[in-house]
Amino acid sequence: MVNITVVGTGYVGLVTGACLSDFGNRVVCVDNDPKKLETLGRGEIPFYEPGLKELVEMNRTRNRLSFSGDIAASVSSADVVFIAVGTPPDEQGHADLKYVREVAAAIAEHMDGYTIVVTKSTVPTGTGSLVDSILRERRPEADFDVVSNPEFLREGSAIGDFMRPDRVVIGASSERAMDVMEKVYRPLYLLRTPIMRTTVANAEMIKYASNAFLALKISYINEIANVCDAVGADVTVVARAMGLDGRISPKFLHAGPGYGGSCFPKDTLALTHIAEKAGYRFRTLEAVLEVNRLQQMRMVDKAKSLLGSLENKVIAVLGVTFKPSTDDVRDAPSLTILPELQRQGATIRAHDPVVSALPGVDNVTWCSDAYDAARGADCVLLLTEWNEYRDLDFEKLGATMRDKTFLDCRNIYNPRDMKQHGFRHVGVGRSFEASAPWAMDDVLIRESSDSIPAPETVSDRRS
Ligand code: UGA
Repeated sequence: MVNITVVGTGYVGLVTGACLSDFGNRVVCVDNDPKKLETLGRGEIPFYEPGLKELVEMNRTRNRLSFSGDIAASVSSADVVFIAVGTPPDEQGHADLKYVREVAAAIAEHMDGYTIVVTKSTVPTGTGSLVDSILRERRPEADFDVVSNPEFLREGSAIGDFMRPDRVVIGASSERAMDVMEKVYRPLYLLRTPIMRTTVANAEMIKYASNAFLALKISYINEIANVCDAVGADVTVVARAMGLDGRISPKFLHAGPGYGGSCFPKDTLALTHIAEKAGYRFRTLEAVLEVNRLQQMRMVDKAKSLLGSLENKVIAVLGVTFKPSTDDVRDAPSLTILPELQRQGATIRAHDPVVSALPGVDNVTWCSDAYDAARGADCVLLLTEWNEYRDLDFEKLGATMRDKTFLDCRNIYNPRDMKQHGFRHVGVGRSFEASAPWAMDDVLIRESSDSIPAPETVSDRRS
């Protein structure tokens, strides 16, 4: 058992603290926000993440997990201190390390005995040495090591990702630190999870390179979808066949309205800046950012070409979070798509299973379900693939619509089925014209096996 302190009870900190306590370590999660601590003290979680509340509760009951506002006591009693505070982009899009610096200074003040200081937040290369120099400057005599241990968990499936990761990356400044970190992750060693032992700088780069590559895959398949639209091909079939090549893999090849969330937009931008600062222009990544911006606007163009004009049209938007199983709307495509629809004259009726307000987006009528949203609508625009939208009753949905059109931004419905239901339907790189009856069975058999995932894997784009 290792004594761990996690500083920052945001998304990464809380998931990390809960999971590491479940591994058998003794964990204290520290925060300087008394309101947050009060919420956690009542057994509530300040955001929506499946399974997290139960995991926190169970480990608190077993006295392995606690919350505290006392950074001094929590740091001095810890063998390992994780820094899991936010690194929001500053005005130029660089990751702002203000909170990391503040926490490093506080750790320097209170660490007692050999201490390992771990960066868990996504931080630019060089942050490990920055933390090291802050600690060394303030406590030249102290016995410590710095480690970078980036997280690869996805919102909505964070617990599963943490407990059964593809790999764990540990970038350490000494063998001694590496040995302690191995103890922290002991249950994963037993599961034979690949553990990558490397340097701090490599670990920091691995995180950015991984997220940027996933974003690149998405922008790439979105562009293939746009070409499919133009030449009359079906991107879902193209992506499936591409993915059967082991070198490509089928994961993160789902065309859609562009990626969003708190990670890909921020990390791709930050990596272009890291490269720029080092004197290198990262051209593919610049294109990824541009394609993603254009893809969001393309959904508006699609709605416009379906309806002729958006002036005085009513659009029923289904799903506004950046993906299912989360209440997070940070950088969600909905934040740019909805205002643009409104700007072009459309009225929005919207539904989302967990969200009923969007920051900066007014004049939206929030509805009780998909059918309520579709009342009087000229078009249904499915933006987030929540499970409850995967098996809609089209008879019921169409009955109250002014015009039966459906813009399926996540390609969850088959164009031929939609035609049978009497809907004019458009997907992303997938249309009725691009599908053929003799090719349907094969596609359907394969689709039915993975297009309706179990609830806990609803956002699992790995399968
Ligand atoms: C992402 C990474 O997947 C995690 O590995 C990483 O740890 C995390 O960022 C982070 O850096 O903290 P997350 O942002 O939670 O996780 O969500 P994803 O499931 O990766 O989805 C991101 C966006 O890409 C969503 O808007 C999603 O709809 C979109 N997406 C994903 C697609 O449009 N197509 C796909 O095939 C996959």
